[in-house]
Amino acid sequence: MVNRRHFVVASAAAGLSAAPALAAEGGAPVRTEPLNAGYWGTQFYGDEEREQLLNVLETRRPFRWYGTGRQAPDKVATFEKEFAARMGAKYALAVTSGTAALQCAMAALEVGPGDEVVLPAWTWHSCYAAIVLAGALPVFAEIDESFDIDPEDLERKITPRTKAVMAVHLQGMPANMDRVLEVARRRKVKVLEDCAQSVGGSYKGKPLGSMGDIGIYSLQLNKSITAGEGGAVVTSDPLLLERAARFHDVGGFRAPHEQWVGKPQLSPFVGTNFRMNEFSGGVLLAQLRKLDKIVGGVRANAARVYAGIADLPGLTTRLRNDVEGDIGTAVFAGFASQRQRDRFMELMRAENVPARPPSGSVILPVQPYIESKTTVHPAWPSFTSPRGKAIRYGAEACPKTLDILSRFAGVAMDPKFTRRDTDDVIAAFRKVHGAALKA
Ligand SMILES: Cc1ncc(COP(=O)(O)O)c(C=O)c1O
Repeated sequence: MVNRRHFVVASAAAGLSAAPALAAEGGAPVRTEPLNAGYWGTQFYGDEEREQLLNVLETRRPFRWYGTGRQAPDKVATFEKEFAARMGAKYALAVTSGTAALQCAMAALEVGPGDEVVLPAWTWHSCYAAIVLAGALPVFAEIDESFDIDPEDLERKITPRTKAVMAVHLQGMPANMDRVLEVARRRKVKVLEDCAQSVGGSYKGKPLGSMGDIGIYSLQLNKSITAGEGGAVVTSDPLLLERAARFHDVGGFRAPHEQWVGKPQLSPFVGTNFRMNEFSGGVLLAQLRKLDKIVGGVRANAARVYAGIADLPGLTTRLRNDVEGDIGTAVFAGFASQRQRDRFMELMRAENVPARPPSGSVILPVQPYIESKTTVHPAWPSFTSPRGKAIRYGAEACPKTLDILSRFAGVAMDPKFTRRDTDDVIAAFRKVHGAALKA
């Protein structure tokens, strides 16, 4: 009879190594220190950003439209030109945040009271807020296992009142744009691409933001490139750009935009102030020139991990709508139950390679302020119409989204992970995955 000790000794002698003991059960962890991803953009801050900032200080020109001296400030303007070119759009407008960009996009698309906008149930607060602040009604669609909007459910949620749909490219992953665009064109609704979480990603070779009617980006700390805060809108339609620009600058359309976009087509209308300053513009210009390096680094590291775990028996990974276009923000595994997923996270944490549930967004329909339709005023137009009164949010609005997000967990990637770091992610996955499936 072969007992366990004899088996281990015999296997070692035969050059076969026994499965290493799980760290959660007393074995040695894959790493001695936890592996954590950092903030991508700030890791690349260097002389280029410093020079841009110093130049704004020294020339005393912090405001984008005018300032000391005869030369016009040009940081934000140059950023807009280079951003539009990188994103494959004719025009770009720099603004103060992704949330501001969403509000400009709503204004550009003339979304207002009586209109409906479809958005994924799992995304950031700002998507819902921009629709409500425009006076329109948010209608949630489920996500699928890409964590992006489910095109089938998107189509089901379109009504004769739907003006636009938000294709949000979440956590680095392009939405299924072939399907989204096909549905939107057929049902005659506008497409807003929200690329806040996927700045620099692509879909079938096309930059994210360039395929819909209008695209928005966030340049806040957690995004691909950053000035702490910041945002941008892109479009190839001069009228949409003019509306967005007027909305972002208290109704005005300034000479530099007019020179770029063409003769104004509109009269002033009510707007706000979401203008970007030259300090942010300078830093973002320097960061934009590093975007492909940053995204390329993350993508290469994620690809290495995916390749290293591909043969694991029973492995389910996140659905990838476009493998090459995915930034690879995190490498996610899916399980049959939350119990298995939670066990996977527990085992990975013990190996010092923490895996976490999908993050960076919230399940909006179950947020109490959304479920109760709380706004700044009880007569808010979004919810006073019969349709606005009748619509129900809460868990019933997104059972599939709740289920998917309870069964996936992933390891966040970083552009500066070393080979050793990605080897550790692969080793930890390989060590614990089978055990998690048994939970
Ligand atoms: C999908 C999405 N849209 C919009 C935003 C808003 O961007 P900001 O934080 O720059 O206002 C975010 C921010 O995380 C986001 O994740």
